[in-house]
Amino acid sequence: MMSLPADWLLRHSVVMCLLLHSLVLMTFCFHHAATSCSKSCYCSENESGEKTVRCSNLKLTEIPPDIPNDTRRVYLDFNLLTKIPSNAFTGLPNLVELDLSHNALNQLEPGAFRGLGFSLQFLDLSSNKLVRFNPESFEGLRARTNLTNNPWHCDCNLQMALTRVDLEPASLTGIVCQTSDPEETGVQGLAFLLAPHIDLCVVMKRTTDVAMLVVMFGWFTMVISYLVYYVRANQEDARRHLEYLKSLPRGQGKSEESSTISTVV
Ligand SMILES: *[C@@H]1O[C@H](CO)[C@@H](O)[C@H](O)[C@H]1NC(C)=O
Ligand SMILES: *[C@@H]1O[C@H](CO)[C@@H](O)[C@H](O)[C@H]1NC(C)=O
Repeated sequence: MMSLPADWLLRHSVVMCLLLHSLVLMTFCFHHAATSCSKSCYCSENESGEKTVRCSNLKLTEIPPDIPNDTRRVYLDFNLLTKIPSNAFTGLPNLVELDLSHNALNQLEPGAFRGLGFSLQFLDLSSNKLVRFNPESFEGLRARTNLTNNPWHCDCNLQMALTRVDLEPASLTGIVCQTSDPEETGVQGLAFLLAPHIDLCVVMKRTTDVAMLVVMFGWFTMVISYLVYYVRANQEDARRHLEYLKSLPRGQGKSEESSTISTVV
């Protein structure tokens, strides 16, 4: 008598359990479908519907092409990216934060962040392999940018480039020089912007000054030699002319001679 309801319950609970299980699975699947956005990355949305795409630590060598266009935050840190091509993020006009730290980035093509000028507030490029600072890569960008922990090469080009970017100024203090040109400036290991006494363009200015001097001296010499030549040739001419006049019959020669002398004088 007692075993029957128990058996019945058990059987039914198994069915119930299976039903429940599939229901959970289904909701999970639907839920996943609703928030899935990029094949390789994890996506989430906060209460206000702002989308975040996390692609951290996935050994990515390229930026995933399927990040939704309304994404606000993208985390691509701890991957194997080596370069950011031009217009890499033009499809993401709402991007506020972009984390590219801990990759192997050594090249940011001109216009790499084009289209993000009005939206992007935080850009993390720290712990990469950036050597040369190219202002064209940052055109239009005003974001606060983390440039620390890169093997920056500081030279006159860098010094001039820093005046041509709109990045939040404090960002540039992250440029700590690993190498420099000229080498013996003592700027290695220093944040370039915080070493205002170091002018890496001095040598270049000096060489252009010397070049200018050489060119000017060259011109000067040419002008002087031409003048000397001109005067000499004229003197020769005048002398020959006088001799010619002297050789003429007397009466005719006198008047011409005096007029020639007056012109020579
Ligand atoms: C994203 O793309 C969709 C469809 O292509 C478009 O309707 C929408 O306006 C785009 N959103 C943004 C923020 O560009
Ligand atoms: C910049 O990145 C470095 C290393 O990734 C981190 O330690 C530092 O806190 C960051 N700085 C800022 C201002 O976010």
